[in-house]
Amino acid sequence: MPLSVEKIEDGSVIDHITAGHGLHVLAILKIDEKYAGRVALVMNVPSKTMGKKDIVKIEGKIIDEKTADKIAVIAPHATLNIIKKGEVTSKNQVEMPSKLVGVFKCPNPKCVTTTEKIETDFEVEKRSENPNMRCAYCERTFTPEELRE
Ligand code: CTP
Ligand code: ZN
Repeated sequence: MPLSVEKIEDGSVIDHITAGHGLHVLAILKIDEKYAGRVALVMNVPSKTMGKKDIVKIEGKIIDEKTADKIAVIAPHATLNIIKKGEVTSKNQVEMPSKLVGVFKCPNPKCVTTTEKIETDFEVEKRSENPNMRCAYCERTFTPEELRE
C-alpha cells in the first residue's frame, strides 16, 4: 500500500530529495521541536526518475533563495513547490551554487573562521552529484554532510 501524506494548505513541499537526506533538509530549515506548524518527512519512497527519494512538507514556511542554495548542495535534484490555498503556485528545481558565503560553519576547529568572527566562504568544487566544499580560509575540503550551520 502506498504511504500517503496529507496535502498541505500553505507552505512548501521539497520533493525529489536524494534518499536519506530528508533529515538534513529539515536541519537546514531549522525545523525542530519548537516548530508549531505541520511537518511531514517521507523517506525512501519510490521515484520514477531517482529510484528512491525523500519528501519534506512544511506548513507555514516559504523557502527563500539562500535556503534553496543550501538544499541544492545536499539534494541537487530537489524540487521546491510553493503551496498557496492548497494549490502548487510555483515549482522550481534547485540550482547548485558555485559559492556559499556565511552559510555553513567550517568544521575545522583551527580554521580562522572558527577562532575569529569571520564569515565563512565555501567554494563548491565539483558541480556534480556529490560536490566537495572547499573552505576559502583553511582550504580544507568537506562533503556537504560534514557541513552544519
Ligand atoms: N502537494 C501538497 N499539498 C498540496 C499540493 C501539492 O503536499 N496542496 C505536494 C504533492 O503531494 C507533491 C508535491 O506537492 O508531493 C508537488 O505536487 P504536484 O506538482 O501536484 O505533484 P507532481 O505532479 O507529482 O510533481 P512533479 O511533477 O514535480 O513530480
Ligand atoms: Zn576553514
